[in-house]
Amino acid sequence: MNTVSEQSTAPIRLSDYRAPAWRVERVELVFDLDIDSSEVTSRLHLRRDPAQDETLRLDGEGLDLLSISLDGVALEPGQFRLVDSALEVEGVKDGSVLETRVRTHPAANTALEGLYLSGSREAGFLLTQCEAEGFRHITFFPDRPDVLASYTVTLRADKTRFPVLLAGGNPDGAGELEGGRHWARFVDPHPKPSYLFALVAGRLEKIERDYVTADQRPVKLVIWSEANVIDRCHYAMDALERSMRWDEEAYGRNYDLDVFHVVATHDFNMGAMENKGLNIFNAKYLLADPDSTTDDEYRAVEAVVAHEYFHNWSGNRVTCRDWFQLSLKEGLTVFREQQFSQDMNSAPLKRIEDVSLLRRAQFPEDAGPLAHPVRPAQYSEINNFYTATVYEKGAELVRMVSGRLGTEGFRRGMDRYFARNDGRAATLEDFLGALGEANGVDLSPYLSWYAQSGTPRLKARGSFDAGKREYTLTLSQHTIATPNQPETQALPIPVKLALFHRDGHLLPLHLDGYTAGETELVVIVDKGEQQFVFRDVASEPVPSLLRGFSAPVILESQSSPGDLALLLRHDVDGFNRWEAGQQLAVAAYEALRQGTSGDAVSAWCDALAALFDDTAVDDALLAELMTPPGEIELAEREREVDPDLIHAARRALQQALAERIGRDALEARYTALAGETTADLDAASQARRRLKRRVLELLSLLDASRGHVLATLQYDNAPSMTDRLAALSVLVRTDAPQAAAALTHFRERYADNPLALDKWFNVQTQRQGAASLVRVQELERDPSFTLKNPNRVNALFGAWARSNPVGFHQADGAGYRLLAERLVQLDVLNPQVAARLATAFNGWRRLEPVRRERARAAVEQMAAQPGLSRNLTEIVQSMLR
Ligand code: PHE
Ligand code: ZN
Repeated sequence: MNTVSEQSTAPIRLSDYRAPAWRVERVELVFDLDIDSSEVTSRLHLRRDPAQDETLRLDGEGLDLLSISLDGVALEPGQFRLVDSALEVEGVKDGSVLETRVRTHPAANTALEGLYLSGSREAGFLLTQCEAEGFRHITFFPDRPDVLASYTVTLRADKTRFPVLLAGGNPDGAGELEGGRHWARFVDPHPKPSYLFALVAGRLEKIERDYVTADQRPVKLVIWSEANVIDRCHYAMDALERSMRWDEEAYGRNYDLDVFHVVATHDFNMGAMENKGLNIFNAKYLLADPDSTTDDEYRAVEAVVAHEYFHNWSGNRVTCRDWFQLSLKEGLTVFREQQFSQDMNSAPLKRIEDVSLLRRAQFPEDAGPLAHPVRPAQYSEINNFYTATVYEKGAELVRMVSGRLGTEGFRRGMDRYFARNDGRAATLEDFLGALGEANGVDLSPYLSWYAQSGTPRLKARGSFDAGKREYTLTLSQHTIATPNQPETQALPIPVKLALFHRDGHLLPLHLDGYTAGETELVVIVDKGEQQFVFRDVASEPVPSLLRGFSAPVILESQSSPGDLALLLRHDVDGFNRWEAGQQLAVAAYEALRQGTSGDAVSAWCDALAALFDDTAVDDALLAELMTPPGEIELAEREREVDPDLIHAARRALQQALAERIGRDALEARYTALAGETTADLDAASQARRRLKRRVLELLSLLDASRGHVLATLQYDNAPSMTDRLAALSVLVRTDAPQAAAALTHFRERYADNPLALDKWFNVQTQRQGAASLVRVQELERDPSFTLKNPNRVNALFGAWARSNPVGFHQADGAGYRLLAERLVQLDVLNPQVAARLATAFNGWRRLEPVRRERARAAVEQMAAQPGLSRNLTEIVQSMLR
């Protein structure tokens, strides 16, 4: 028997890209599936690039090679070699057929990459995860996205144990076999890269819906899950149908197979996967019901269902030439999902949420040791590059380009992009090239956004000349150097702007080169510093800059508290209105941080108190306005981070707001909102729940015991998970005596629901102060905790290390040591999840000195472990560099 394993850690570089010497035209796969051991027979129909004369080299990892033959003749040991995670074969000709038979071990696969078992040996099912490089754990293959092949897949298994057999593509026959076994075949007419291959086998239930595409193709939509949760798949089915219609209308994209399968699993490293015709979802992003799913999670289900569906065109029909182009599919698909979600829900709220996520997750990444461009120049382990930068910043880059072209121009460009690259593995140059050419615009300057890391800072200065009636806006940009990038250049930054009169109305704009009289326009800042002179301005205006967050930059403006308060009252751009409130809150926070208090605090509190009484303000927006930037965002402003000080100042700010509004007003509002409680999912009901939670939190700051009483009542009577979890969270965070009973109740109520149980873990990691570490250690010993389940790991360690800075960053370093120890253990089981969780240490260098040294010791301790995975090695080494 021949076994291949172990990989090199040498970096792979974009500049080394070479077209494949060998392509696979067609692949026939036959799987004999079982829990402990599965056998895979593969027949590759090979084509040689006439310009290259390399030996055939196929990727393969952890495979037992059982047999190998070339053009029907068994190969002798001297005719092939197993080297370094690859199989090399001599004597292959253009048109040759190579057949291999290998064995893999699904139940022993804890990395959840390749073919693995979800759930228990008795009741679980088999499935695959191939992106990015999982296919090489299933069979020998040129496992790179620019090798597109037609797949014919036959699955064979015991009929009682594996009644359902699924693979991507269209069904092409099924039948019985001897010995209680059966088979099913699938043919995918669309050539695809190996990372889009998938199969599923086991006992699963389904719900179905008939769908007819705009171009009149009947499609069977099927969602599969384990029997006990199939009733929770209906919301996802509705979301899928909405996504399909939307892509037809917004982009003219129709679905292209006879079936579309979606499968839910509780054992998944990521959110979901867009395998052609067979999407596989982390159950967290598919299952939903009012009793166990919060409003935020409902929106996440809709968004992820849409995201994976949209990949069918942006990713599958047009795929990536190499993994450096990952954002070609991910940034674009996130952007398409954002547009969809803006259309389905409140557009400004969605924008606020997306920008908040960018600031919370991507800005810190871009400012720390793991900073990388949206198109990285090199990687050691590609799985470490499924990052907020590639996804969220990538989406912002597409948004800028779409803004540059306008709605119609962007659609024209996208049509060109899809038409020209359909069935191809494309690059970001192909993308910008098609968009630009369809509009007669040179978009190549935007390529520098893809190549440069770090968040640009945009400084704005305004000066008014009353005599000339001119307002001069000076905009300058600078990007701070990041690791691997000592020098930075100016980027094209589109700044959408408006000017307000002091009485709150929009001014018509007169700027040379722009249509006169518009009230909003976009200027592009593409040099270090530029001036824009607005004419005919009667009095000193209040600028509203970067409207809708028109570029992913940090805006440093000189707006006075008065200007910001005016925008908070009057800006018609929903995003900028919120943003003005955030800036006011930051000014107030800074004052409290410096111990100066005074004007800035009352400016924010007064403005918010006025909005609180204004019934015209949407409840959800009000809840967001009353929430200052989070501790992680605030930490980005500090030279040296002390999480305790940040927490204290932010808390004092909220306390000041609560006092300004007053206990009676808060309680009256709470009572009114609580009186209308339902589990309905319409926007108004969701908005009420959001505001109710916020009001309860503020009220608890003023009067903890009153807060506890109300929260307990809310918990006991909650008709939805949103209300129940909000109440539980208030009880836990404020250390209420009632928390223990509620937690016990929650635990029992949801004993059989792993996703709800994850929330039980998650909420307890948010205990204040040193208590959180103790609690995390108790929770690890809970019988339902396991390092083998990524959702559970993230619900405990992820939630704690990322969302409870004070708890994790305990000054004595105990939190760091605990996480480092667990990461090393987790790495043995699941390197991808370990490496992602390790990024919680990302900001260690900017911590204040005491914590910094303790965090450094913990990271170094990890780095010193022998036998770390390539995944975790790359992360810890980058953090120590
Ligand atoms: N391609 C998936 C998505 O974003 C994410 C993913 C990456 C899933 C790698 C699994 C493995 O839609
Ligand atoms: Zn994606």
